Amino acid sequence: MTSQPIDGEFLDDVRGLRDQLSRFLAEYQFGMREIETKLSILRDDFEHAHAYNPVEHLSCRLKTPDSIAEKVVRKGIEPDLATIRREITDIAGVRVTCSFVRDVYRLFDLLAGQDDITVREVKDYIATPKANGYKSLHAIVEVPVFLAQGTVRVPVEVQLRTIAMDFWASLEHKIYYKYDKHVPSRLTDSLREAALTAAELDARMESLHREIHGDPMLPPRPVPPLRIVPAGGGISHA
Ligand code: GTP
Ligand code: MG
Repeated sequence: MTSQPIDGEFLDDVRGLRDQLSRFLAEYQFGMREIETKLSILRDDFEHAHAYNPVEHLSCRLKTPDSIAEKVVRKGIEPDLATIRREITDIAGVRVTCSFVRDVYRLFDLLAGQDDITVREVKDYIATPKANGYKSLHAIVEVPVFLAQGTVRVPVEVQLRTIAMDFWASLEHKIYYKYDKHVPSRLTDSLREAALTAAELDARMESLHREIHGDPMLPPRPVPPLRIVPAGGGISHA
């Protein structure tokens, strides 16, 4: 079989599409970095102000082109970038694992309350868990990204949960895929029970923690005013 020479115009089209897609994904990557930075700043600020870290783990992921294509088919939407931009809001995802449920809500409130953030959607699966027992706080937040060509507002899906919820979700995810989405009922029952046990553990650990440390996220103790010490002494507290 003789192969046909590849038409130059066709190659240019393919390269054009590739460049368009990589610019499109770059915006989500930048938005994700903005949210990751905001959350790391909140974490570090808490560490300074309260000697307490409400974030156990912070991770980010960008949907692959394959996974975007799969979602386009699943949702039955037009496969053009404008439609994808409008309809698929979880191309950029940030997951935050906190020690306690209270930290989940506080951290989210602090993020959502920032001037440049718009909250587009909140799904509180902690207050109302899914039928299978899944718990997490999901939100789609929009963050501005300042590019050389101007500002774009990028949606980022933020999922916040406790360590116990995360443990449960990662096991449930593995089981779900192992059984190709048809999980036997003895396992779904057992998972629902495990979710209740995880919630109990969350409540017990939080109350133990409060008993020992009080509320770690109360306003910080007032810091005495700064005083400049003359003659090489630098800055000291009064
Ligand atoms: P899609 O985003 O189209 O999947 O549907 P949706 O917007 O209704 O999803 P939702 O916001 O409820 O959940 C989005 C993400 O949360 C998923 O991609 C998972 O990462 C996670 N998630 C939701 N439900 C479950 C669940 O039952 N088990 C586990 N392990 N993860 C879940
Ligand atoms: Mg979603």
